Amino acid sequence: MAVSLTACEPAPKPTTSPESSSHAPSADLSEAEKAQVLASLPTPYNAASLEEGKKQFGKCRSCHVLIETTATTTGPHLYGVFGRKAGTEGGYPYSDAMKAHDVTWDFATLDAFLTKPRDAVPGTKMAFLGIKDAKDRENLLAYIAVETAKKPQ
Ligand code: HEC
Repeated sequence: MAVSLTACEPAPKPTTSPESSSHAPSADLSEAEKAQVLASLPTPYNAASLEEGKKQFGKCRSCHVLIETTATTTGPHLYGVFGRKAGTEGGYPYSDAMKAHDVTWDFATLDAFLTKPRDAVPGTKMAFLGIKDAKDRENLLAYIAVETAKKPQ
């Protein structure tokens, strides 16, 4: 009896339609494109684990989303947070402390804030103690950067 040793079948095409997730920008990105965005981040973020970062984001999820929304959430949405001046997401009622926090969010300023929010921004109403482990913050920030990225050209 002939045993056929054919090469692997081509992977089935994904059946999810992009339309169904039009509000989640990174949902448009394939895994390969996410890897491309990750690789383009500055060190050490380009070597971060998105898997671990996603787990870390579990700590933020009760108050934040990564998509643009006008829905009321406890914290401001974090879509476009990289490059946003602190406390300026239209429509969100920030504390005076956050409005007065004169930084533009990038890896360095986010890292400092998330280490200990109440030390970085005394008087913030973000009720979160912080993430002590630098590696955890690295993975988290890489995940947020990739999840909120535009499709690479
Ligand atoms: C219990 C709710 C809560 C949790 C948990 C939380 N946040 Fe927040 N976050 C807030 C609130 C409320 C604000 C607005 C703070 C203010 O106005 O002082 C905020 C503000 C921020 C800002 C500033 C955004 C801007 O537009 O200036 C960033 C960045 C942020 N949070 C990231 C995170 C990340 C990342 C995590 C997870 C590690 C997290 N937060 C966990 C409630 C939360």
